[in-house]
Amino acid sequence: MQIKNCSAEDVLPLRHKILRPGRDISSAVYAEDQDKTTSHIAVVDSDKTIAVLTLLTTKKLPNYLESLSLPTNAFVQLRGMAVDEGQQGKGVGKFLIENTINQLAETGVYKILWCNARTYALPFYVKLGFKVVGDEFIVPDVGPHFVMYKTI
Ligand SMILES: CC(C)(COP(=O)(O)OP(=O)(O)OC[C@H]1O[C@@H](n2cnc3c(N)ncnc32)[C@H](O)[C@@H]1OP(=O)(O)O)[C@@H](O)C(=O)NCCC(=O)NCCS
Repeated sequence: MQIKNCSAEDVLPLRHKILRPGRDISSAVYAEDQDKTTSHIAVVDSDKTIAVLTLLTTKKLPNYLESLSLPTNAFVQLRGMAVDEGQQGKGVGKFLIENTINQLAETGVYKILWCNARTYALPFYVKLGFKVVGDEFIVPDVGPHFVMYKTI
């Protein structure tokens, strides 16, 4: 298993398959995908992409994170976290997040990794040291979520 920094085009097929199944491919495209400040990271095994995530430096933060009293540029948002079917539950997601956090720590810039976590994936993030802030909310067409964050 290898970690690779890659393009939006590289992560889109798996993001679409796992997170927007049965919907048009455009539903899996993020407005920020091609921004210079956005990065995409994949786990590749025998030339196959088996897990992906995307990092955004969103300027607009959820109110819940404002209580952390850090500058906006200290925050990085995790989006599009997906592990391929058949590869889930084998430590691949953990491997990807832990490597990503190490990469972010090396920059010395980012202090908080946060996400809108699907409620059913919440225990995964808790095991990785993420904390919940605020109340559960519904993302239309996707389902219930919580804002979660981890100190880098
Ligand atoms: C959620 C997801 C990213 C987790 O990745 P994964 O590779 O399956 O998880 P890992 O095998 O690395 O799991 C790490 C730990 O979290 C636990 N875990 C993972 N997913 C879990 C879940 N949905 N509920 C409870 N525990 C979970 C594992 O049991 C493991 O625990 P352990 O360390 O005690 O053995 C992956 O299953 C996935 O892509 N699911 C579908 C899409 C999705 O929900 N994405 C997240 C959107 S916010």
